[in-house]
Amino acid sequence: MLSEQERREIEAHARRYPNNRAVCIEALKIVQQHRGWVSNEGIADVAEALQMKPAELESVATFYNMIFRKPVGKHVILLCDSVSCWIMGYERLRQHLGDRLGIRPGQTTTDGCFTLLSNVCLGACDHAPVMMVDDVHYQDLDPPRIDEILASYRQEEEKSTDGNAADS
Ligand code: FES
Repeated sequence: MLSEQERREIEAHARRYPNNRAVCIEALKIVQQHRGWVSNEGIADVAEALQMKPAELESVATFYNMIFRKPVGKHVILLCDSVSCWIMGYERLRQHLGDRLGIRPGQTTTDGCFTLLSNVCLGACDHAPVMMVDDVHYQDLDPPRIDEILASYRQEEEKSTDGNAADS
């Protein structure tokens, strides 16, 4: 069942769309934001709220690659593997990220911090190679820059862990 908060947010979006079908991606994103990913239960919850068939939503969720149908880490890295990024060093960066994180595309680090996924064009081809971490674009990448970016997320994690420990 949708939480009260999820329901409120979906209704707020629905007011801006002509019909329920048009709001379904936003609704799936809202569920993902609250639950981390969209399970079959999440699909069923959204389908019920929008009076759609779960199979219809399932196909939307499968088509739209920003909807995660499996559990993901706290941060999702989308590394562009389309043509410009491929030419500008995708393979080298994929290898580098994999070495640094100890995972391959499609996997999540053992501490649950990062999931690494390959992704189609992220729309910044003139600054290839490109990746996104959650909602943030990083472009003109090379291995040292990747190390800086990963370190900044690790530091954030440490800060939030320390903060939580201090609070308890
Ligand atoms: Fe990578 Fe377009 S090809 S951003």
